Amino acid sequence: MNNCDTVIYGASQLVTCASGGKPKRAARMRNVGAIENGAVALKNGVIAAVGTSDEILRDYRAENIIDARGKVVAPGFVECHTHIVYAGNRLDEFELKIKGADYMEILAGGGGIISTVKQTREATLTELFEQARARLDKMLALGVTTCEVKTGYGLNTETELKMLEAIFKLNENHPVDVIPTLLAAHAVPPEYKGKEDDYIDLICREIVPLALRLYALRAVNFESKATSRNEAGNNDFKEFSESEMLFAMRDNPFFIDVFCEKNAFDLEQSRKVLEAGKRCGMKIKAHVDEFTNLGGARMAIELGAVSIDHLDRISDEEIALLAASETIGVITPTVNFNFGSSEFADARKMIDSNCAIALSTDFNPGSAPCPSLPNAMAIACRYQKLLPSEALNAATINAAFAVGAGDKTGSIEAGKQADILIIKAEDYRRIAYEFGGNLIDKVIKKGEIVFSQTNRA
Ligand code: NIG
Ligand code: FE
Repeated sequence: MNNCDTVIYGASQLVTCASGGKPKRAARMRNVGAIENGAVALKNGVIAAVGTSDEILRDYRAENIIDARGKVVAPGFVECHTHIVYAGNRLDEFELKIKGADYMEILAGGGGIISTVKQTREATLTELFEQARARLDKMLALGVTTCEVKTGYGLNTETELKMLEAIFKLNENHPVDVIPTLLAAHAVPPEYKGKEDDYIDLICREIVPLALRLYALRAVNFESKATSRNEAGNNDFKEFSESEMLFAMRDNPFFIDVFCEKNAFDLEQSRKVLEAGKRCGMKIKAHVDEFTNLGGARMAIELGAVSIDHLDRISDEEIALLAASETIGVITPTVNFNFGSSEFADARKMIDSNCAIALSTDFNPGSAPCPSLPNAMAIACRYQKLLPSEALNAATINAAFAVGAGDKTGSIEAGKQADILIIKAEDYRRIAYEFGGNLIDKVIKKGEIVFSQTNRA
């Protein structure tokens, strides 16, 4: 008999999404590793053992016993692409789009992303943090236990860093693990119109190094080192050696991202930004092929991107490159749904071609005001012809790999963080089958219950 902190037992299905250390592809995406009458033992925030209820109840004695009879137990969802730090809303744009306005035309006319930039520049750090925290609370209640969050509504040094501060503060003050991404190259700032290359220079020379310094101070707790070194009169980010930074970034990934698109950044500008981050050890993500194929998918794969996202216009040659690479393809069908479009990225073809596909809401105020990964799953199943099993693996284990956390979370496997959902469903397929509601009963993060529907009035 072993002692542990918590045993969850009796699950009608415990879906492990176990992947043996690598993202799932092709037929493996249809396997969710379901265990009937499943159970899991948790100790010190980590998964100690997984098996049938008979096995786990025989081998483990626990302080807390959670009865999951009639319910599904699944890995916490991983949201691998969001823009939840922003001020204001885009309700006017919503109406304009209903009346026929085009998203990229709105942006070209100084609205869209730029209207959120104006409001975000005016907001204080506390306002940004509080608004983002409320959004993250909604996502947690819908099953998210790890969430990537991007900057990109600042588009100047001061506000990009303010957004990054808000992201680090979210990570410190919220049960959800928050993974930071610098997306200073999200749109051309109004003051750089016609001088796009100058803005790219600013990102590479100033914003990336200062963002890295902030990351070193806030995200990886180099504070004490920084203080002692600052006393010696040295206060630029070079105070941290290259090997210290690379070591930190191995365990706490920090991403660089770009919107490679007509009226945003062209292929060469995008490459410069990604290379500037890569030189400093940042991991690469890229928004590619949302509206126009500029060759961004190939370029990002060749640079070793961890993920490429959207993929609506990806070519067959690029699908073959993606399939042969370690890069994860992230689909965001909530965006197409939000545009009222009937065209979606051909995820069916990508999965059948052996690409590792992850799924995201792309939660943002313009193209996808949607906190619900289960809703993204519902849309992916109906319009992109994913099976519920593929959608679940795409929102858990493959999404974890898309944020560089595939070794820590995204599946129920011994040794991984105890990030676990108890879901009011008898069969995991219900998660994508039902839409518009919330089936989450409990969310467990690193072994602790951090959300419980049954405890709510
Ligand atoms: O992923 N495409 C660029 N960025 C976001 C939209 C952000 C916004 O509209 O505010 C996206 O779709
Ligand atoms: Fe996005």
